[in-house]
Amino acid sequence: MKCLKINGGKKLSGNISVHGAKNGVLPILSACVLINGVSVIHNCPKLSDVDVTVDILRYLGAKVERENDALIVDTSQIGRCDVLESYMKELRSSIIFLGALASRSGRACLYLPGGCEIGLRPIDLHLKGLKALGYNVYTDGHNVCAEKKNVKGTEIVLPFPSVGATENIILASVLAPGRTTIVNAAREPEIADLVKFLNKAGAKITGTSAPTIVIDGVKTLHGVEHTVIPDRILAATLMSACAITGGEIELENLCPEHIMPTLPAFEEMGCRIDISKNSLRIKSPERLKRVKKIETMAYPGFPTDCQAPVMAALSVAKGTSIIKETIFENRFKHIEQLNMFGTDISINDRIAVVNGVKNIHSADVKCTDLRGGAAVIIAALKANGISTVKDIHHIDRGYECIENQLASLGADIKRMYDEKK
Ligand code: UD1
Repeated sequence: MKCLKINGGKKLSGNISVHGAKNGVLPILSACVLINGVSVIHNCPKLSDVDVTVDILRYLGAKVERENDALIVDTSQIGRCDVLESYMKELRSSIIFLGALASRSGRACLYLPGGCEIGLRPIDLHLKGLKALGYNVYTDGHNVCAEKKNVKGTEIVLPFPSVGATENIILASVLAPGRTTIVNAAREPEIADLVKFLNKAGAKITGTSAPTIVIDGVKTLHGVEHTVIPDRILAATLMSACAITGGEIELENLCPEHIMPTLPAFEEMGCRIDISKNSLRIKSPERLKRVKKIETMAYPGFPTDCQAPVMAALSVAKGTSIIKETIFENRFKHIEQLNMFGTDISINDRIAVVNGVKNIHSADVKCTDLRGGAAVIIAALKANGISTVKDIHHIDRGYECIENQLASLGADIKRMYDEKK
């Protein structure tokens, strides 16, 4: 069993390049299923979620090779139209293969994704969208299947701007005859990047920066070369790590516009932020200040994925911060772990009350999920003494060698095998 050993108390400093966005590369790899040819996707981080997605593509019949940060994906030989339980269990978001596979093969059957660490994560909006497009959608008790019936463009109104449902509907409609309109679509930057990729491949999609996306169906898509956008959640995670240690770092290769929704929180904490074209410098005060209230919301609101890392930083701020989680019903699991460091955080339904404490001590903790794992690592960077962070497979889903990234900024952090296991 692997774990991280972190000797806290070192101020972070230096420059670091932000790797490609996990939530950007996954739907783009699914979109490759719609292409009959070879695509080259640059800036693909080495993450376990990317590995599982590549395994799915290979299982379906695609050839995928990695050359440094690029994935070369040849989808000309895709033959299968099912995705096994083992893959669906490892990567719940692989449900976005449903629309692409059904569109390409006429039928797709994916093992039913269950709940996950951060909540139930239903897929009703994905399925309603595909049904509205004319797919016959059903479950056989094990799989969720979509079959082409009389597929054509239509208007789909989402009651909530779900990221995954928006992606699935785009992928299911890009080759459908006629015009599809998604009203109240998600506006996350990763969706705009997916649309950019598809448009380069020959799709006709407009409106990604507005709440209505319009897709005019085309007959075929061709292979393309594309560079995935930088990971805005990684950027906010590194900023939180810098903030808690009172450090000063520069993030390179990021898109400052994508990080805007989180900046007011860091500024309220007392951090100084300087933005250039593709980089951001953050300088943190000796002691952070509390943030009056943070409420997670769909983009361009404060991202739910940044809630846990920012909470870790606020746990040592002067004063009391209020954090309301509105997107996922079970995204406070990290609080129990954070409190092992001596923080004072309580939960009332979807609201966390973070009473900042001056000092925290080392602890043996575990990652409860991907972003909750990032939060405990951030707390360990501040804590006096050596902390052990277990269950780091969650972290490897979304952060490429987190220990190397943080060590390059001066943290004392090592990956090792836990002798007790
Ligand atoms: C994506 C991101 C995840 C991020 C989330 C919100 C990927 C791979 N994951 O997840 O990191 O935290 O967006 O920004 O991109 N919902 C329904 N029915 C549905 C679909 C969603 O009720 O059919 C609900 C969910 O339970 C949740 C909310 O809508 O409460 C948001 O979910 P959604 O935007 O779909 O998130 P994901 O695409 O799963």
